[in-house]
Amino acid sequence: MSLQKMHGVWSNRWIFVLAATGSAVGLGNIWKFPYIVGENGGGAFVLVYLLCIALVGIPIMLAEVLLGRRGRQSPVNSMRYIVKEANQHKGWILIGIAGVVAGLCILSFYSIVASWILHYVVSMAKGTFDGLQAVQVSDYFGAVRGNHWVVAGLHTLFILMNVGVVALGVTRGLGLVARILMPLLFAMLLILLGYAIAKGDFAQALSFMFSFKLSDLTSDSILTALGHAFFTLSLGMGAIMAYGAYMPGKASIGQTVLLVGVLDTLVALVAGLAIFPIVFMSGIEASSGPGLLFVSLPVAFSGMTGGAFFGTLFFALVMLAAWSSAVSLIEPGVAWLVETKRFNRVQATVLLGGIGWLGGLGCLYSDSLFDFLDVLTSQFLLPLGGLCIAVFVGWFLPRKLVANEMNWEGHPMMEIWMFVLRYVSPVLVALIFVMAIFNKFFK
Ligand code: PHE
Repeated sequence: MSLQKMHGVWSNRWIFVLAATGSAVGLGNIWKFPYIVGENGGGAFVLVYLLCIALVGIPIMLAEVLLGRRGRQSPVNSMRYIVKEANQHKGWILIGIAGVVAGLCILSFYSIVASWILHYVVSMAKGTFDGLQAVQVSDYFGAVRGNHWVVAGLHTLFILMNVGVVALGVTRGLGLVARILMPLLFAMLLILLGYAIAKGDFAQALSFMFSFKLSDLTSDSILTALGHAFFTLSLGMGAIMAYGAYMPGKASIGQTVLLVGVLDTLVALVAGLAIFPIVFMSGIEASSGPGLLFVSLPVAFSGMTGGAFFGTLFFALVMLAAWSSAVSLIEPGVAWLVETKRFNRVQATVLLGGIGWLGGLGCLYSDSLFDFLDVLTSQFLLPLGGLCIAVFVGWFLPRKLVANEMNWEGHPMMEIWMFVLRYVSPVLVALIFVMAIFNKFFK
């Protein structure tokens, strides 16, 4: 069966850009980025994060899309195909398999955060936050988290929504979300930013996010920044490889990937710039952790004319962004199961969605499982997957094959990229790993 029939292809390059942006832009940008910036002291962390995006994330993203488009199947089978074509060791296929596992681990805690967001859509619409101060909103968030039955119900709903799209086939299910909702989400973030500039403590937010002392950096925060660069770009676990496989043959990988990387980074920075002025204005601790978004934004919306309307719309859009990310967490595994021919798409999706659902229930009842899966994936599995991808494409694939697939034969970009992919990205990832391990165990 052709790829077209089995998984579908994006109808043109723009749909790939939108779908890949849909995967990249999600809770990582709007929920996680601001709170880890807060926990890691601001500017120095942001700087390291931006460097990681430019020197590690984007170069590896190019490599990952390339592998997908060359292999034109699920990540596992794309790797199998390329390993054979380039006559390399079969062990590299593990990149694909580890990615499937990482995707399920991420889905488990991701879905729980998405269910808090779903809860907030309803709370906003009901006007729950009208007139509340930060302390009261914080209590409310605590109560939402503690309400296991409701969260379990919303988590089930979120998993079902994902199963629906993936069962239909992402190339069919995602177009609409990506085309209309991404631009709307961006517009909403700009409205929030406008409000934050007008009413919040914008000067302090700017200086918090962009001025830095090197002494603020610890090896832990450097590893967090690196891990987040992978997480936010959906790298290192095959999501972008799977999407690359559905990319039309001649579309330029270089420009496309750069655009996705820039859009993703912009959304994260704007989210931070919209949230921190409100955080400082209302006396919320910048380092208050995963609740930061859930406490700061209701305060902003409650002070805004039409706040309940904008608040509902905002959380609904964040929910959609989370949705278009979460589908890419199971797509690699589903595509693989379908290719084995032992499952059809619906069965494969229900099976993997079911595993994510169970994992989510685990995270709901155990905060330590939630934290463990978060750290395991962001700080370990994704960077390790990315490191292997960089080494494989940089050192083990024939140059000619790579240049040909990139459409970069004789192009100066090819030389620059190859240099970064061979010497800069893997060395940085390895160095950060070693440093973090050293500090954990020997200090
Ligand atoms: N990039 C997504 C986000 O920022 C999360 C994600 C990670 C999605 C890995 C797919 C793969 O929310």
